[in-house]
Amino acid sequence: MEGIHLAAYVLLFFLLAVFLLRPRRRGASPPSNHPRTTSTTAHCPYPNPILGNTLDFIRNRHRFFDWYTDLLRASPSGAIEAWGPLGAGHAVTTAAPADVDHLLRAGGFAGYAKGGRFRDATAELIGDGLFAADGRLWSLQRKLGLLPSLDAAAASGRAVDLQAALRRFGFGAICHVAFGVDGDTRLEEEEEEALFEAFDVALEISFRRALTPATLVRRLTKVLDVGRSRRLREAVDVIDRYAMSVVESKEARHGNGDADDDLLSRFMAAMGEEEEDGSSSEELGAMFPTPAAKRRFLRDVVVTFVLAGKDTTSLALTWFFWLLAANPRCERRAHQEATTSDAKGKMHYLHAALTEAMRLYPPVPFNGRVAVRDDADELPSGAVVREGWYANYSAYAMGRMEKVWGEDCMEFVPERWLGEGGEFVPVDAARYPVFHAGPRVCLGKEMAYVQMKTVAAAVLRRFRLEVVAPVASVEAPPGYEMTATMKMKGGLWVRLCRREESADE
Ligand code: HEM
Repeated sequence: MEGIHLAAYVLLFFLLAVFLLRPRRRGASPPSNHPRTTSTTAHCPYPNPILGNTLDFIRNRHRFFDWYTDLLRASPSGAIEAWGPLGAGHAVTTAAPADVDHLLRAGGFAGYAKGGRFRDATAELIGDGLFAADGRLWSLQRKLGLLPSLDAAAASGRAVDLQAALRRFGFGAICHVAFGVDGDTRLEEEEEEALFEAFDVALEISFRRALTPATLVRRLTKVLDVGRSRRLREAVDVIDRYAMSVVESKEARHGNGDADDDLLSRFMAAMGEEEEDGSSSEELGAMFPTPAAKRRFLRDVVVTFVLAGKDTTSLALTWFFWLLAANPRCERRAHQEATTSDAKGKMHYLHAALTEAMRLYPPVPFNGRVAVRDDADELPSGAVVREGWYANYSAYAMGRMEKVWGEDCMEFVPERWLGEGGEFVPVDAARYPVFHAGPRVCLGKEMAYVQMKTVAAAVLRRFRLEVVAPVASVEAPPGYEMTATMKMKGGLWVRLCRREESADE
């Protein structure tokens, strides 16, 4: 593997040497078939005329989100332009709230697509389902065994990977809410591990591919079923088997006349309904005329929900617990609120501390769309986006911009979210796009907060956490993996100490 990397470096440095005598300019024009209709003010960080930003990308791939943050901070407009070899994979990335507003909500929205055709037909259905599900979550952390497993770790005195425990819990929670899976029908531990591994591999490979232009080598490895393409195919096979087993067992339950109220059951019901008024559910059914197509779509629903709900809340909680360990003052306040609020209290400080943790470590750090317009569009920052280009925003960089959050932007200060009466005060989603914004805003946001606050309060009430590794210091934050979600590298290893006052709970 390292040999392949080395060969790639040698080749790239050789190519670079050929062009070394050419001056590198800021704001240089990329090779493009499109005539420029407008001049762009997007900062273009040191591109090579042939390789674009490829060399820097390779050098910085282990710190990808921070590299982009550095580039965005250096850009006067808050947006940058970058591209791969020969102008491929052209992307404008922004950390300017006005640009995010334009891309996700205002006039620009229609000009940028993700490719999802079914959302309009299903949004109401999912929205209802998620809100209806909130109530069930309050008792979930007990049912799914998070606390008993942490209790056992505390009693034995051994260190435990809190990130892994939270991910298992997050998976159980989403399966419970979305597919009605409960303790009895859950996967065996080994099967669950294999499934997690498959999701990790598939996400990581897909994320890297989204950032790099498709090459001939990639196409060839796909045809030959070797290398990364093979690993991706194998991972997707594991995921497919799991998703189809969920769909089949749900079909069997429905066949036996059991009426479930989870999200998957609602999708299935909506697809089967025959209405005469042209309503969305009929539209949904009509999109998948054969049983096989319907099943395939239901498989996609299962995968989408697992992807949306499995890691997002658990990774937010992982960074939240690490930040509390590194900031004892905040930990004391959070613990105090957890012990004095009742289960359904608002818990404003916890809400603020979780929101602040996601400002610094957004579970979805980098997100993008592709421009589908025929002509060029100009973002409010002045960056021009042409048809076929990526238009990205980095929630990670935005949380770390002085321009957006002030001089203390790198500090963990939950109080910045509290009003004078101690109440949580939200900000505009274009300034804090952690849950996205506009018509395709996250549908699970409310549910996610309920779940995160429930788990945070339950853990804080019961345990004191001592971080074993990575070391809890604000100066030396843990690393992250380069994938679509903000996964802490190596996990969060903690020793749990049962609090005396919670001994009888
Ligand atoms: C801290 C937790 C969460 C964060 C930070 C988060 C963030 C996001 C983001 C950034 C998107 C936009 C993705 C895109 O369009 O590219 C999204 C979409 C979505 N999220 Fe969440 N999410 C969280 C939890 C959840 C949960 C628990 C669910 C429940 C199942 C959920 C369901 C969805 C769905 C269905 C969408 C797709 C909406 C659409 O495309 O119309 N999310 N989320």
